[in-house]
Amino acid sequence: MTAAGLPMAVPAQGLPPRVRIHEVGARDGLQNEKGVVPTEIKAEFVHRLADAGLATIEATSFVHPKWVPQLADAEQLFPLLGDLQGVHLPVLVPNERGLDRALALGAHRVAVFASATESFAKANLNRTVDEALAMFDPVVSRARESELHVRGYLSMCFGDPWEGPVPVAQVVRVCRALLDMGCDELSLGDTIGVATPGHVQSLLAELNEEGVPTDRIGVHFHDTYGQALANTLAALQHGVTTVDASAGGLGGCPYAKSATGNLATEDLVWMLQGLGIDTGVDLGRLSATSAWMADQLGRPSPSRTVRALTHQEQ
Ligand code: HMG
Ligand code: MG
Repeated sequence: MTAAGLPMAVPAQGLPPRVRIHEVGARDGLQNEKGVVPTEIKAEFVHRLADAGLATIEATSFVHPKWVPQLADAEQLFPLLGDLQGVHLPVLVPNERGLDRALALGAHRVAVFASATESFAKANLNRTVDEALAMFDPVVSRARESELHVRGYLSMCFGDPWEGPVPVAQVVRVCRALLDMGCDELSLGDTIGVATPGHVQSLLAELNEEGVPTDRIGVHFHDTYGQALANTLAALQHGVTTVDASAGGLGGCPYAKSATGNLATEDLVWMLQGLGIDTGVDLGRLSATSAWMADQLGRPSPSRTVRALTHQEQ
């Protein structure tokens, strides 16, 4: 470690020079908190993440407030972020109602969120997989007509708490449908954290074979079994350059009980910095932000890097 609290940079062969971090703490993290974080604290969180150099910060969701009460203040929060220049602030929209709400507030980037499995589609969206795709279709085309960037999340790409291992063909089919609909990029979610590096590389290879190019794919790992960084490295070796992560390791998913721990942004940045890969993120500022958020939530951050750098109690 260097005196500045950074790992020594020692590049490895075959990795991209730069990675775009898609920060999900304010949405995926806070949606899973038991309590509701006050709107002003959320706004400060997003501002601090931007100050730490994160350029894509998923801000909130325009979903049904009864389904995710933690993010029911989207209308109040979004205008408080209007002064963030040059930072992308994507928001989740499940349907046209959500898109209307996002458009009314001037959102420039939206994300729909599909499932590779029927069980999670039902639990998360009250729809079958195909009904959910039919719900997204007009959302994506209207978003594109309004020149919005559209991300297509796909959950349960590796395993599902109700259905077990997820066949690759099932994942490929929904990825294709999301791209054919007009999504600009995909985010492959290991929602319950059961993926391992070989599985990641075989899914990516299969997607390529089916005509899904790597530059349209982001990865979204959970650290339930401690595999998130190993899986990320496997994805980078395959050529992926967009990685989702959550500041301080906040969150999971409210509709999948075994989904704990998004990959912590600090743990990711530590590894990338050590590999000499540029992220634009100031690790000291980011860790301080997550330590501050952990104080707001009344518990230590689960991120090992945040704990090490800010000397938080276990
Ligand atoms: P539904 O109950 O089937 O809704 O829920 P509906 O379409 O039958 O509509 C019922 C009522 O809800 C109507 O009102 C609608 O207007 C209203 P009424 O006419 O009865 O007065 N409504 C809305 N209100 C506000 N905003 C909206 C909206 N839509 C309908 N957007 C629905 C279907 C999709 C709405 C619901 O299931 C929902 O909101 N689900 C969201 C769940 C969620 O946000 N989950 C977490 C995100 S996914 C995730 O975390 C995974 C990810 O992070 C990746 C990973 O980790 O794997 C992305
Ligand atoms: Mg997640």
